[in-house]
Amino acid sequence: MTAAVALTVAGSDPSGGAGIQADLKTFSALGVYGTAVLTALTAQNTRGVTGVHQVPAGFVGDQLATLLDDVTVHATKLGMLGTADVVRTVAAALADRPGGPVVCDPVMVATSGDRLISEEAVDAVRTDLLPVTDLLTPNVPEAAALLDVPPATTVEELAPQAHALLELGPAAVLLKGGHLGGEESVDVLATAGGVLETRRPRVRTSSTHGTGCTLSSALAALAARERHARNELDWAPLVDEARDYLQAALEAGESLGVGSGHGPVHHFAGRW
Ligand SMILES: Nc1ncnc2c1ncn2[C@@H]1O[C@H](COP(=O)(O)OP(=O)(O)OP(=O)(O)O)[C@@H](O)[C@H]1O
Ligand SMILES: [Mg+2]
Repeated sequence: MTAAVALTVAGSDPSGGAGIQADLKTFSALGVYGTAVLTALTAQNTRGVTGVHQVPAGFVGDQLATLLDDVTVHATKLGMLGTADVVRTVAAALADRPGGPVVCDPVMVATSGDRLISEEAVDAVRTDLLPVTDLLTPNVPEAAALLDVPPATTVEELAPQAHALLELGPAAVLLKGGHLGGEESVDVLATAGGVLETRRPRVRTSSTHGTGCTLSSALAALAARERHARNELDWAPLVDEARDYLQAALEAGESLGVGSGHGPVHHFAGRW
């Protein structure tokens, strides 16, 4: 039996806690061979982002085509795509699922609340990317931006918004409630079969850099291990397993002592 292979299409975070660095660590921790197509370089540490250098859309397309021409990829995770051109290029390249099921983390809004992508790129995500997405994993502000509604402020508002996002084309939606606060961190999974809540006790830690990247890449790794066609994938148990992995990584994050801001989660908690 050869290795399960996952692909991340995302930006670089030199501090290693988010972006492709976090994705490759997550793939590795979960026993999956990682491949990566870079969409952007960021200048970034645990305190913030000071610059972004975008890869031209044509070269993102070249990276994808060359990789997929040779390597069999069992699942793909999409992170920061940045521009409308890159969004459209990636959506076109993955329309026939050459890289297996697509987990799309629609990175749009920084933790600071700043928009990371233009209104045109948000439109391209809506019209081009959501229809080729098997699992969409927005946070609260991203769901609001995609739906053009005010951000949810309570857990009760998550299910109707997840349902509304499902109408835009993805096969499944995991709306993450990390930003809502409270004793538990609640995510809502919406599929054609219905709605399911996943709850974990909220970890009191400053090491929360890259939680979203880590969750979506864990989901892609677990999907790669399943090696099923998109319609056969049952996301509910994978969400449970991915959140268990993230929970342990959050609990051990501060022990790494990396950086002076919001440090990384520990991708190899219990493994080192
Ligand atoms: N303190 C915490 N304790 C437990 N789980 C958390 C905590 N913070 C976030 N989570 C979980 O982490 C995952 C990411 O959620 P969040 O809403 O923070 O996404 P995000 O905003 O996209 O993350 P990022 O800021 O890394 O992009 C979700 O499963 C959420 O429930
Ligand atoms: Mg995020």
